Amino acid sequence: MDKIRIRGGRPLEGSIAVSGAKNAALPDLAAALLTDQPLVLRNVPQVRDVITMTRLLEHLGARTSVDREGMCHVQVSRMSEPEAPYDLVRTMRASVLVLGPLVARTGWARVSLPGGCAIGERPIDLHLDALSRMGADVELVHGYVTARSRRLRGADITFATRTVTGTENLMMAATLAEGRTVLRHCAMEPEIVDLAALLTAMGAHITGAGTETIQIEGVDSLHGATHGVIPDRVEAGTFLIAGAISRGRVEVTECDPGHLAALVDVLERCGVPLTTGPGRMEAGPWESLGAHDIVTSTYPGFATDLQAQYMALMTQASGAAVITENIFENRFMHAGELRRMGADITLEGRTAIVRGPTKLSGAPLMATDLRASASLILAALAADGESTINRVYHIDRGYERIEEKLRALGAEIERMH
Ligand code: EPZ
Repeated sequence: MDKIRIRGGRPLEGSIAVSGAKNAALPDLAAALLTDQPLVLRNVPQVRDVITMTRLLEHLGARTSVDREGMCHVQVSRMSEPEAPYDLVRTMRASVLVLGPLVARTGWARVSLPGGCAIGERPIDLHLDALSRMGADVELVHGYVTARSRRLRGADITFATRTVTGTENLMMAATLAEGRTVLRHCAMEPEIVDLAALLTAMGAHITGAGTETIQIEGVDSLHGATHGVIPDRVEAGTFLIAGAISRGRVEVTECDPGHLAALVDVLERCGVPLTTGPGRMEAGPWESLGAHDIVTSTYPGFATDLQAQYMALMTQASGAAVITENIFENRFMHAGELRRMGADITLEGRTAIVRGPTKLSGAPLMATDLRASASLILAALAADGESTINRVYHIDRGYERIEEKLRALGAEIERMH
């Protein structure tokens, strides 16, 4: 099991290009199930979750190829058994994204229910209720969800809570339904806009993606397309925070500053000098770093996927920062590991109070989930001495070659096999 070893205390300096967004590439890949024509996706990140999704698509009958430049060809000319097995789904919850396309394409699907995960119970009831509203017979049997429908019917659906993959699943399902579907109280993340752009290129009729109301006029079939996956805003934010926590100067390129307005706003309030330009952002060295509160919320609010990274930064800020995690019920697992490095963090339900600045010291650390691992790497960059992070397979799920990218910025970091 790989480990990452970091010797902290050096300011990072330099420029790093961001990879394609994992959370856009996953629904974009699932969209290939909606047609028997070839899909070509550019800028697909080489991360474990993408490999898991391509493996799942191959299980469903797809032919796939991904090269080192991130060019991905995928075609499902003939569907095999439309079933997503437990041993694949349990390793990646986003497998649930094949549910909508399978029902729309073949009339039925059998997908293992994704269990909870480290950060929360993460049900998919909103996905299933909405599919039922479109005429699918949905059953839960032996840990699997089966959904059947001769042809889905357009419906007017309001999501009780904003759900990113729920919005994506239903948007895909509706593209081949009979008639019009209106999805209300939708998530508005950039990854949803990216998926809608791909589906439109495939011949779907979608309006409103990126707002809370999306309308889809069903069509009889979709064709292939070529599409570039948007940059990964979470990776971009993580590297900006790496520059700030190490008191260095880091430029992030091939990114979209517009996707990170909430992070930019709070980092500037903390005193991090930030500059942005077309496709680029830079975090410069700060004179003094002040603590600021954040509340995670759906886009365009502060992203829950950047909360752990921000908590690591607040250990170096003067004052107390109150961090409220409103999206997931158990997303403070990184706090315990940060405390072992010397951080002063108090947890009270959905809030964490971080008091700083505190001197962090390197330590052996355990990664628990994808973004918590990023938080530990950031803290290790600022800590005195050496840290070893175990279970780095978590980090490889969502970050492409992270140790190579950080080493290019001057970090003393290596992967140990
Ligand atoms: C997506 O997960 C992302 N994953 C997550 O990124 C991200 O943290 C999350 O959105 C929030 O932004 C992908 O896009 C592949 P939700 P998703 O449905 O869609 C509740 C990462 O680190 N809910 O928007 O699973 C749910 O429990 C990952 O890259 C229901 O109750 O999240 C949560 O509290 C982690 N019933 C809230 O809604 C449902 O049917 C938001 O979840 C669906 C969701």
